[in-house]
Amino acid sequence: MNTATLLIVDDEKSTRDGLRMALEDSFECYVAADIKEAMSVLKSEPIDLMLTDLRLGGDSGMELLDQALALPRSPVSIMMTAYGSVDTAVEAMRRGAWNFITKPLNLNEVELLLKRAIQSRSMEKNVLRLEQENQTLRVLNGESIHGLEKLVGKSSAIQKIGDLISQVAPTRATVLIEGESGTGKELIAHALHQLSGRPKDKLIVVNCAALSPQLLESELFGHEKGAFTGASQRRIGRFEQANGGTLFLDEIGEIDPSTQVKLLRALGERTIERVGSNTPIKVDVRVIAATNKNLQELVKEGEFREDLFFRLNVIRVLMPALRDRAEDVILLAQSFLKEFADDNGKEPKPLSSQALNLLRLYNWPGNVRELRTVIEHGVIMSNSAHIDISHLPYFMISHDQQETSNNAQPLQISHSSSATLSSESKDEGFNLQVLELHTIKRALKYTKHNRTEAAQLLGISRRTLQRKLKDLHL
Ligand SMILES: Nc1ncnc2c1ncn2[C@@H]1O[C@H](COP(=O)(O)OP(=O)(O)OP(=O)(O)O)[C@@H](O)[C@H]1O
Ligand SMILES: [Mg+2]
Repeated sequence: MNTATLLIVDDEKSTRDGLRMALEDSFECYVAADIKEAMSVLKSEPIDLMLTDLRLGGDSGMELLDQALALPRSPVSIMMTAYGSVDTAVEAMRRGAWNFITKPLNLNEVELLLKRAIQSRSMEKNVLRLEQENQTLRVLNGESIHGLEKLVGKSSAIQKIGDLISQVAPTRATVLIEGESGTGKELIAHALHQLSGRPKDKLIVVNCAALSPQLLESELFGHEKGAFTGASQRRIGRFEQANGGTLFLDEIGEIDPSTQVKLLRALGERTIERVGSNTPIKVDVRVIAATNKNLQELVKEGEFREDLFFRLNVIRVLMPALRDRAEDVILLAQSFLKEFADDNGKEPKPLSSQALNLLRLYNWPGNVRELRTVIEHGVIMSNSAHIDISHLPYFMISHDQQETSNNAQPLQISHSSSATLSSESKDEGFNLQVLELHTIKRALKYTKHNRTEAAQLLGISRRTLQRKLKDLHL
């Protein structure tokens, strides 16, 4: 492989020279002191990577970033910022920097980051090529695009999330994933790790809701022998285990105040202390947190520390509810059908048009996980060539759609609030049989299953109602 080219931009000569000396074994290095010099190198040399300071004498590194990224062949850019200026770092990434690194610099860290940047560039090229070859690649066709292949969906909400994930995955930025239950938060956490360039097997998952406060603290940070009653052995915590990799903190909204303080420190200083010890231990851990609560609300209610929220919320991913992206329902259903059929070494059975319509009409309070269960149910129950309504779970038709439309706190992405009947534009969303079934179920529910009253309400005879119930396998 050719040596990658690196442009180092810093107004301080000592920093430029120091970086160049440290990096010239691994990269072909160029240096510049300000925007003018930097742009002239970028225009004359094929630069792969640019490492720039935020302050360049009278010039701003942000401005350089804008100009460099506007070039037809732009370098993967990394911004150097002062320690603790998370806002600036995020701003740089928003403007298209690939990552940031804080000063004072650790040269090993710089080198590692640059190497990852190069990997990500070649990966991006591959993805781009694959995408050009096959626009529908993301829609699961057995091919893998580096961790995102499991994320099924063509809605713009999901596509945007896919883009965001590939962009931020290789950075060490902390990611907060919010969304209702079953929307795919864990899936996203795994994808982020797969794409991070960190060792594949170093993803450590901790479910914060599953442990008592004291257990959680020692689970995360470890403890020394004798730290508390019952601590008969030294224990290495999850942070230490995840060193060099990713730590996924699921249900972060559930952690108690004292662990919140410790976590804040671990995130800020990148060091931890085992319970019962004062010796700080350095850890390089990328943290991903997920919650089905609205953390900002918890902050307002005083249940969650605001400073910790800001530390976690560097990059925020909001998983849309399934009812807000109805265009993905059938695609997901098909991919689950294929998955279950593959498990049994069979060809997937098609869904009948009525079944398809019911899937479109239903509003999925349990989101993608519920859809997966429903499809599994259908696959198991179907004894014919199709999967029909009668093979789908009974509750799908017996529930009043309006009532099931909300569980807990919706965390919807605002651009798509069209909710239940987003298929209203498509005439397939109005299949009479489905609507009839739905109305019959509502009438029965309303009359507390008094068939005579239900028939009256429906404007049909009791006998007709009986027949319909039988036809519909109810
Ligand atoms: N976009 C998607 N494409 C394919 N499968 C998905 C997608 N989103 C979710 N799933 C599947 O749905 C199921 C639930 O997803 P996941 O466990 O990630 O949800 P969650 O948001 O973590 O839920 P909870 O809050 O209940 O923990 C999993 O089987 C997952 O693989
Ligand atoms: Mg989960």
